[in-house]
Amino acid sequence: MKRLVVTGGNRLQGEVIVSGAKNAALPIITATLLAEGESQIEDVPPLRDVLFLNDIFRNMGVAISYTDKVLTVNPHHASFQEPPYDLVRKMRASYYLMGVFLARKIDTRIALPGGCAIGSRPIDLHLKGFRAMGANVNIDHGFVDLKGSKLKGANIYLDYPSVGATINIMLAATMADGLTVIENAAREPEIIDLANFLTVMGANIKGVGTDVIKIEGVKRLTPANHRIIPDRIEAGSFMIAAAATRGDVFVRNSLCEHLKPLVAKLKEMGIRINEDIEGVRVRAPNGLRAVDVKTLPHPGFPTDLQPQMMALLTQTNGGTSLIIETVFENRFMHIDELKRMGADIKLDGRGALVKPSQLTGAKVCASDLRAGVALVIAGLAAKGETEIRDIYHVERGYENIDGKLADLGASIEII
Ligand code: UD1
Repeated sequence: MKRLVVTGGNRLQGEVIVSGAKNAALPIITATLLAEGESQIEDVPPLRDVLFLNDIFRNMGVAISYTDKVLTVNPHHASFQEPPYDLVRKMRASYYLMGVFLARKIDTRIALPGGCAIGSRPIDLHLKGFRAMGANVNIDHGFVDLKGSKLKGANIYLDYPSVGATINIMLAATMADGLTVIENAAREPEIIDLANFLTVMGANIKGVGTDVIKIEGVKRLTPANHRIIPDRIEAGSFMIAAAATRGDVFVRNSLCEHLKPLVAKLKEMGIRINEDIEGVRVRAPNGLRAVDVKTLPHPGFPTDLQPQMMALLTQTNGGTSLIIETVFENRFMHIDELKRMGADIKLDGRGALVKPSQLTGAKVCASDLRAGVALVIAGLAAKGETEIRDIYHVERGYENIDGKLADLGASIEII
């Protein structure tokens, strides 16, 4: 089994280049299936979820080539047979196939999605949206049966601004009959990136980035080319890692406007942040201040940076930090692992109280993607050697994390 071993104590220094955003790439790659012909997507990170999606596509007869982070997709000769259970179960974002199949009016049966174990993660809001548009949706023994030959535009109010539901309904609505209005829609940058791609394909979408998105269905979409936005969560993770090691790091290919809540919190802690057109420089002094963090849908503090932030908040110079997780009910699995490293954290419901402590290396286990990275960050700040198991979780979301951190001076290897 692969393990990541990190010896703490080195200040991170230098420059790191952020990859394309996984959570934008997955829906955008799936959206290429909406048009007959060849689309080309640039800066696609070579991550496990992307490779799984490529496998699902090949299985459906979609022509794919993937070199130098450029993915070329052509579904012209695809059979669109049911996506295989074993592949669909491996990745959560496989559920975007539902929106695409509905848009293309192809009946299908698709396994309920897999993904990180950070909460119950239902897809009721996706299905509610599809049903409102007239699709026939049945759940049967872990599969979703979808029939949508007469998909019509509808008014859909999301009880929660779910990223996945907003994207899936948007995909389905691109070629539905008439106007779909999504109220209380999610506003994440990845949704805007997808909408930009769909618009180049010929979709008629307005209001993306606000909480009301309007999509007027069009008859057909055409292939398009697109470059994926930088991964704000990877960028944020490197910014936090720099801060946790009192480092000085330039995070290239990062957009601060996607990371406003993190930048605000890091500044509140006393960390210097300088932004220019190419990226952001992070310099951390000794004597970091404790801060409180509450996760929220965008533009609030991202839940995908909460575990990493918790690792950083063990490194303040006094005071207690409070972290409240409101997005996923079970996203505190990293606490027990951080405690093995000597962290002083008390969990009470959705809140965690974090006090400063000297972390020491230990054998720990990555329970999910972001929790795994939090342990890497904790390991960088700890005394001695930390060994992280189940590192495949981290590899689902971070391209070459060991190489990128080693280039910044970390003592790190995957064995
Ligand atoms: C996406 C991201 C994930 C991120 C999350 C929140 C991808 C592939 N993943 O996940 O990295 O952590 O956004 O920013 O882009 N919910 C329901 N019913 C639904 C859908 C969601 O109750 O039908 C709940 C979830 O259980 C959760 C909350 O809504 O508590 C947010 O989930 P959602 O925004 O849908 O996250 P994902 O799209 O799964």
